[in-house]
Amino acid sequence: MTQTISPRSCPLTGTYRPEGDKSLSHRALLFASLAEGESTIRRFLIGGVTRAMLRCLRALGVEWTLDEESHVLKVKGVGLKGFKTPDAPLDCGNSATTFRLLAGAVAAAGIECTLDGSEGLRKRPMARIIEPLRILGAEVESADNRAPLTFKPAKMGSINYVLPVASAQVKSCLLLAALSGNAPSAILEPGPSRDHTERMLAAMSARVRNFSEGYGAVVLPQSEPLKPLDTELAGDISSAAFLMVAATLLPGSDFVLEKVGINPTRTGIVDALRAMGAEITFENETEMAGEPVADIRIRAAKSLSGITIQGDLVVRMIDEFPAFMIAAAYATGETIVRDAAELRTKESDRIAIMAANLQALGVEIEEYPDGFRIQGTGKIPGGVTVHAQGDHRIAMSMALAALRAEAPVAIEHFEMLNESFPDFPRVLDL
Ligand code: S3P
Repeated sequence: MTQTISPRSCPLTGTYRPEGDKSLSHRALLFASLAEGESTIRRFLIGGVTRAMLRCLRALGVEWTLDEESHVLKVKGVGLKGFKTPDAPLDCGNSATTFRLLAGAVAAAGIECTLDGSEGLRKRPMARIIEPLRILGAEVESADNRAPLTFKPAKMGSINYVLPVASAQVKSCLLLAALSGNAPSAILEPGPSRDHTERMLAAMSARVRNFSEGYGAVVLPQSEPLKPLDTELAGDISSAAFLMVAATLLPGSDFVLEKVGINPTRTGIVDALRAMGAEITFENETEMAGEPVADIRIRAAKSLSGITIQGDLVVRMIDEFPAFMIAAAYATGETIVRDAAELRTKESDRIAIMAANLQALGVEIEEYPDGFRIQGTGKIPGGVTVHAQGDHRIAMSMALAALRAEAPVAIEHFEMLNESFPDFPRVLDL
């Protein structure tokens, strides 16, 4: 579907409560399946990526019910070894989180199972889970270190492993497999990837904790069943980020995003936008199910200037670069991002695709192997057609580009946003 978006003349005001966080929704559903007993999960994100996880778990014999109106999900846990052998390969759709987290659980479950996904997912790198899973004892085959992967029954040992790149998906995959190990395992990381797995598993009685120095986690074999969850999920800061940028850019805006997760491993976008001049404050800070949450208030920025981003901040805002790049284009001056080669391995090569789209829109951008430079002028000419390239966050970032462009922008494949943020067009009246 092609959507044409005209510049928006009115500010963003009022309040909006985003759906449950994508990472938390995936984890709550999968971990509840591995627990023993019935879990209740409120504000579960209903989107393409979580439907993929739901579908796969049903094929593995997990019973769940989802109320599509209230977003309440009930899951009957089958235990760490309770998956049944599925009749066919599991289709993880576009969801690398489904694929990589499920891989850890399936590797340890003692069943034969093939994990597969969309054409886009088949291009994503999987050596990063295959190699350490084999060290842990998994029997896993793949033709070219990419999906599909076939697992055979195997016993898990233990692992002491340094991840070459910070990745919560890989860390979580290994922690899940190591729960069924025969000795403690340690996963070290070069940066602060999101720690939702450690927090949620610990709340379910797993003996897992983060290192007090450096990054990563240690986990002990799980000797008792994981306890079921009864939880309400924090709102998704990665979806909220698009609205933070929108409110920052639209003159006169004063907008509150309610009950959004502000786990410090996820708030890099707030730090980055504030450093550019955005007016973002946290109000009513509290905790929901072991995760910090707040109402996030955004007022239109008086001015925005370019900044430089590198190191740990990149990891803490890894999914937010498409939205951030629009803010950088509307800022004045140079924005430089380094240490962000991971952006090339996401739902699309986000450096190349964003560079092509921004150039088409009339923005000056230069690619680096591990980042980019945007020369912000405060303006986006627009008046062209751009493509989401199968990537939900590219689709939404192009809508942000259109909000203050000098001419309408047509976005092909706009429906991709349904993967993670189906409410997006309604909130922005698109
Ligand atoms: C996620 C981790 C990140 C992120 C993805 C969700 C997770 O991926 O980009 O959207 O839920 O663990 P990586 O682990 O590849 O960095």
